[in-house]
Amino acid sequence: MVDEMSGRHMFEKMRLQKYLSRCGIASRRHAEEMIRAGRVRVNGVTVTEMGITVSPGDLVECDGKPAVPEERPVYIMLNKPAGYVTTASDPQGRKTVMDLTGGVSERVYPVGRLDYDTEGLLILTNDGDFAYRSTHPRHQVNKTYIAEVVGEPSREALQKLRDGIMLDRRLTSPAKVELLRQNKRRAVLRLSIHEGRNRQVRRMCEAIGHPVRSLKRVAIGGLGLGSLKPGEWRYLSSKDLKKIEVDSNG
Ligand code: URA
Repeated sequence: MVDEMSGRHMFEKMRLQKYLSRCGIASRRHAEEMIRAGRVRVNGVTVTEMGITVSPGDLVECDGKPAVPEERPVYIMLNKPAGYVTTASDPQGRKTVMDLTGGVSERVYPVGRLDYDTEGLLILTNDGDFAYRSTHPRHQVNKTYIAEVVGEPSREALQKLRDGIMLDRRLTSPAKVELLRQNKRRAVLRLSIHEGRNRQVRRMCEAIGHPVRSLKRVAIGGLGLGSLKPGEWRYLSSKDLKKIEVDSNG
């Protein structure tokens, strides 16, 4: 929502620390420290307690300077093709997902990452708070992948994926695993995991002796890729965002 008088983006009522992180002043945790240290005033009154909410029209100041959210929060879903990195720039000069989102006017950045060779659903946003919540394992947002693997995994091998695989001396959390189809040379699996360890699906499949040939993320929580083609993106609605949270414990 944009205030027609000032041209500034308006915001919904929200907690002060979240508001400060929306202003790009600090992460939510750092904002809490700033509040505790007495550096933040709301309508001229210094606030040192957590939990206070601010509404449109409130004057928030940080170190004596007005704190104003500059950009409306936007959320984008991209169908990342293989052959792109998910960082904003690449020292090796490879193509990045930023090359695909040139038409987005806000400064968005990827939430979590997909490997160079992995395709599929990637969210980009300028909302740091959302990015933090959806990548933290504590929040258990399920990510669903379709993996084509080499060979014919036995039932026992698939059960190992479900029960947990030792990676980096720590068992992976329970995964949902379904065998979609197979022939003698290849099998196609659907896996849902909520952790986001480095190359996790590839390493889990490798550990049971069935390396991944191709990998695609098809859903985050209850939000699926739908009909987006590789390289295409679209804005997410608040209904889309709810789908991510609703299914997050599923
Ligand atoms: N697991 C992987 O191995 N790679 C990805 O890109 C995502 C999950």
